[in-house]
Amino acid sequence: MSSSGTGFGHAKVILLGEHAVVHDQPALAAALHVGVRASASDDGGPLVMIPQWKVDVRPDAKGDDDLDRAMGRLFERAPTEARGARVVVETQIPSRAGMGSSAALSVAVVLALADLCGETLDIATVERLAGLAEEVFHGRASGIDAAVASRGGVLRFLRGAEPVSIPSEDLPVVVAQVQPRVPTRQMVDRVKVALEARPAEIRAIFDEIGRLVALAEAAIGRADLIELGRLMDANHEALCRLDVSTTALDDACDAARRAGAFGAKLTGAGGGGCIIALAPGREDEVASTLRRDDGCWVGVTRLGMKRNDGI
Ligand code: PMV
Repeated sequence: MSSSGTGFGHAKVILLGEHAVVHDQPALAAALHVGVRASASDDGGPLVMIPQWKVDVRPDAKGDDDLDRAMGRLFERAPTEARGARVVVETQIPSRAGMGSSAALSVAVVLALADLCGETLDIATVERLAGLAEEVFHGRASGIDAAVASRGGVLRFLRGAEPVSIPSEDLPVVVAQVQPRVPTRQMVDRVKVALEARPAEIRAIFDEIGRLVALAEAAIGRADLIELGRLMDANHEALCRLDVSTTALDDACDAARRAGAFGAKLTGAGGGGCIIALAPGREDEVASTLRRDDGCWVGVTRLGMKRNDGI
């Protein structure tokens, strides 16, 4: 065993297809090149220190704190020699913003504990272990966050199917936190109520989003970013008709387009949270338009990087 080990988990955004994916349409999710980094050393634990979130996590605590319990699951399944490790975590993303911070944390910790013992885990194992921690945070999690955090890249999701990696050039985007986020479950329930009340209309919107996802996958394949931006705009407009956007999210998308983005949309469950704007060559202008002085996170990033590419 070496005296230290490191690991990295990607943050994620949903590029197109949120909500419709719950109702059996495909979605595209993408890893950001930022995420969560973990460094493990072989004594002083079991402990996970996350200075940016101002928490020290105790994996051996017997209480009901979610972080303690989630990290406890990972330490229990780590190689025996790593179970007393101390892990220091550096996060590059905000928590509770819909950017998959909990899955990125879990992947980083799994990899750091394995690396400490000189073990190389395959992606399926990393994803399965991170999924166990995600269950603590999100109940029966869809698995989308753990898959992107561990695999990186751009992935096509369809419920019940293996995620498919979509070859892509780097996609330059701005991700901006616009508003406090509403729990995902609340927004998923809102769409379900609308579906029950107006089945034909809402199903037609899901079908339309499914078609946009297929067209976006083809546009990514051709590196046609102008078309991809147009499809993101169309997806945002469909999400507005599902009543999951807000005036603040709409305004932020409009501001990003005016500043030169090819397209912009809310990402994730909506009702608040983040937008993404595709802004090749205009990243800095779009980011400064969206930056405010209330500390909301705004980042320029590239989507579609594979695990450890250039990190
Ligand atoms: O806001 P997030 O990152 O939790 O994404 C939610 C995406 C939904 O499609 C609304 C729900 C889901 O489980 O896919």
